[in-house]
Amino acid sequence: MQKIIILDFGSQTTQLIGRRVRELDTFCEILPYNKFPTVEADLQSGSIIGVILSGSPYSVHDPEAFQVDLSQFVGRVPVLGICYGAQFISHTLGGRVEKADSREYGRAHLETIDLDTPLFRGFEKGSQVWMSHGDTITAIPDGFKVIGSTKDVKNAAFCKSSIFAVQFHPEVYHTAQGKQLLKNFVVDICGSRQEWSAASFVDTTVKELKEQLGQDRVILGLSGGVDSSVAAVLLNRAIGDRLTCIFVDHGMLRKNEFQQVMDDYRGLGLNVIGVDASEKFFADLAGVSDPEQKRKIIGRDFIEVFNDEAKKIKDAKWLGQGTIYPDRIESLNITGKVIKSHHNVGGLPKEMNLQLCEPLKWLFKDEVRRVGRQLGMPEHLITRHPFPGPGLAVRILGDITPEKVHILQEADDIYIRGLREYVDTDGETLYNKVWQAGVILLSTVRSVGVMGDERTYEHPVALRAVTSTDAMTADWAHLPYDFMARVSNEIINKVRGVNRVCYDISSKPPATIEWE
Ligand code: XMP
Repeated sequence: MQKIIILDFGSQTTQLIGRRVRELDTFCEILPYNKFPTVEADLQSGSIIGVILSGSPYSVHDPEAFQVDLSQFVGRVPVLGICYGAQFISHTLGGRVEKADSREYGRAHLETIDLDTPLFRGFEKGSQVWMSHGDTITAIPDGFKVIGSTKDVKNAAFCKSSIFAVQFHPEVYHTAQGKQLLKNFVVDICGSRQEWSAASFVDTTVKELKEQLGQDRVILGLSGGVDSSVAAVLLNRAIGDRLTCIFVDHGMLRKNEFQQVMDDYRGLGLNVIGVDASEKFFADLAGVSDPEQKRKIIGRDFIEVFNDEAKKIKDAKWLGQGTIYPDRIESLNITGKVIKSHHNVGGLPKEMNLQLCEPLKWLFKDEVRRVGRQLGMPEHLITRHPFPGPGLAVRILGDITPEKVHILQEADDIYIRGLREYVDTDGETLYNKVWQAGVILLSTVRSVGVMGDERTYEHPVALRAVTSTDAMTADWAHLPYDFMARVSNEIINKVRGVNRVCYDISSKPPATIEWE
């Protein structure tokens, strides 16, 4: 299969380059800068059709700056250097890179563009680009020509035969024709046949899973979320009933969620065992208020319950998981800075001797959704918001009791139903416009209120809704006031134990999406 290799020099936007390439129906792999495949066959067979060098937090002059031997691919396949990638090409091939007087950050416009260059096919003069760099390229290497300049950056884009370099970031939204530029590179210059699609993914993956798994039995833990559900349906396509799914109810799911999700799964033809373990979880959590402690107990209990069920399936050889590509790229993060620690369930007993089977390991989240649609899964499963593994436990401040969970489930149900029902001015529901939403029960706080003639002394809840693309950063959603007014009224009127509703207006960072 044709693929583009993206060498990661540690930029925050490397993943975005990957997603843009995939949007062009072209497969790509993001690899650490020093892990270019040495398999000669890949280059010779034409499976690697181009290389993109990402940006970096470093300057090419930093002693610890990441280096790559360009001769591995330059002259063999087309190359596109972005930001640091462009500076690295210039610096290594005989140009000059110097500290800019001031950091160039933000909008700029390509005032001169060589419109005959294939990279800029379809561009308009003055096209907006996004800059973010501390160094500037003051001289380009011999044999290269400048193909784009902004007011402040003369060497904003340059090329020589099939080596292209751009100082700006085509992958970010603010570069108006960034998608066009990447399409020009990937399709026209590298010759992508644009064969990577949800349909082709399903066909090849089902075929590969059949070969890989043969007559073996697979166990998979379902969470109700889109990743594990899509993984299960794919596996089910490949091996049918030899896939056994386990869905654990820890008692802290949303209102009626366990039953609804079980019905959905059965409707999809999955062989699924539902385990109601809520009593165990509530007993072990009794009196525990510390957030980390709660998470640890839930994680431990979850593994215990899952393992007890899994062991009953005697001849299983594989553990299926819904791991997706960003989980793995993050764990490869070359600068070593952990932005988000992962919450994947792990720790199956060694004696079970299971091998991992991760059919979604190459997909970004939006691709998982497309594959889900391709598999005919219901839209409400596919567009379901992310929900934390420990469930409502991380949305109740203080200790957890079934009563508190019940109060929160009721408030949350009103809020989520409201988001689903409210159609905004652009025709989209608020539910689909936000990345994730939920209610937090501030059960350690009480405040005074008045209902009828009665004084109340009850708990506040906080509503949270965020916009995001990957949960690594998030902004609070600007929900309409009339929606908030309606939801607040309904919660206070209907949910006993709640007399105040607040809205969380913190972004991530510095806050996180969940409160605990
Ligand atoms: P934070 O709170 O770290 O959350 O900003 C980022 C995303 O991760 C989800 N989350 C979890 N998911 N197990 C999960 O499967 C967990 O323990 C967990 N904690 C947070 C959170 O809902 C958000 O989407």
